[in-house]
Amino acid sequence: MVLVEGSEVSLRVLEQSDLDYIYRTINSIDSIGEYDVIQLTSWGEIEKWFKTPILSEDLVMLVIERNVDKKILGFVVYYTVHPFLKLLEIGFQIFSKEDRGKGYATEAVNLLLKFLFSSKNVERIQATTHVENIASQKVLENNGFIREGELRCSLYRNGRYYNTYIYSILRRDWEKLCLGH
Ligand SMILES: CC(C)(COP(=O)(O)OP(=O)(O)OC[C@H]1O[C@@H](n2cnc3c(N)ncnc32)[C@H](O)[C@@H]1OP(=O)(O)O)[C@@H](O)C(=O)NCCC(=O)NCCS
Repeated sequence: MVLVEGSEVSLRVLEQSDLDYIYRTINSIDSIGEYDVIQLTSWGEIEKWFKTPILSEDLVMLVIERNVDKKILGFVVYYTVHPFLKLLEIGFQIFSKEDRGKGYATEAVNLLLKFLFSSKNVERIQATTHVENIASQKVLENNGFIREGELRCSLYRNGRYYNTYIYSILRRDWEKLCLGH
């Protein structure tokens, strides 16, 4: 089921027939990329995401699908990060190098903001990126996210800790950008 449709890509819910492909793809170093946490995902976790309700507080994964040929390009996720504060965090990945640099993640995050601000009672959506992950930072900045600061030693990869930038966008900023008021 498509949740939000853009010009090049759409966001849709996970379907049972996607699970095998997602499982095989999500754990490859190529799709994780150079900067993200190497977090290996089990079959059980993928099945759990498949069963998680879309408006859940737990991690929800949506598929980024290319409109023209229905190819699964990657995913977006959103999840709550604090037991008391209303902090919704997002993440995103485009699986294949050949599909990167074509604006797909920028459009997918645009659609995700539209979906989340329309369907959830949330004022703030945040994201963190490795300080050297320029592509990820541009995706966020293209969508109106503001860099708020640096989280020291917050990302572990290849035997060492790296700093991450924290970004956020508030509902009021998003409304100004998208709705013009
Ligand atoms: C980060 C990622 C999602 C970006 O996806 P994408 O579809 O290539 O992003 P876009 O095509 O929308 O590009 C956004 C911007 O980044 C730039 N960009 C893309 N790849 C780049 C790279 N390797 N180095 C520098 N800039 C890059 C694009 O030119 C574009 O710039 P612009 O806004 O000035 O035009 C993708 O590289 C990826 O999946 N990486 C591995 C996982 C990851 O790091 N996820 C993010 C975790 S926070």
